[in-house]
Amino acid sequence: MSKGVHGGVKGQFITVEGIDGAGKSSHLAAIALAVRAAGFNVVETREPGGTALGEALRALILHQAMSPMAELLTVFAARAEHVAQVIAPALARGDWVVCDRFTDSTRAYQGGGRGLDMQVIEQLAGLVHRQTQPDLTLIFDIALETAAQRVQGRGAEDKFETESKTFARSVQAAYQTIAAQDLKRCVLIDGGQSIEAVRADVLQSINRFLKSIS
Ligand code: TYD
Repeated sequence: MSKGVHGGVKGQFITVEGIDGAGKSSHLAAIALAVRAAGFNVVETREPGGTALGEALRALILHQAMSPMAELLTVFAARAEHVAQVIAPALARGDWVVCDRFTDSTRAYQGGGRGLDMQVIEQLAGLVHRQTQPDLTLIFDIALETAAQRVQGRGAEDKFETESKTFARSVQAAYQTIAAQDLKRCVLIDGGQSIEAVRADVLQSINRFLKSIS
């Protein structure tokens, strides 16, 4: 196994990202399955959430109106607990972690969507998880219209899903910037294809990553 940013032999940290309606959730289990098939233990988790405190804060983040800065700090409070209690210990044991959303969501939603200062976000990220960075990030991208139709079809469930089109466009643009700036870590997945084609692209990325670290 590779030596990573955590120092020494460690598990690998995979995150899955994208705008609401991009279709990432249908593929999380397949990612975990593929990594398990390669012989690793996998911890599947999500943000906001992943701990008792994180799940309690998730309810506030998703449904309680609050100022952008309060939202940012609440997201990082949940993340601090999640990294300390779940993610860092799992990686230290040599387990892999597959996490539905992580700090790229904060860059995209609170940075891109809410317009908060990216430098402040990076400072908080450094404070909360400097030693715990994703090794591979799949970013699901899709036309905004298709994403909006999907969200409407299943019924908007939280305050981010009822935000304006401008908000969604800014979130998407932030994700595209992240993907372009960090080509080594990030893979853009075209979520507009058939579910089978998306699944094939996802598994190809995971298998390529498994090969690269072996
Ligand atoms: P998610 O669980 O993907 O929602 P769903 O189950 O509806 O697909 O994500 C919940 C929402 O939280 C999503 O709209 C993005 C938002 N979010 C942020 O705004 N900032 C963050 O740092 C994280 C992790 C999520």
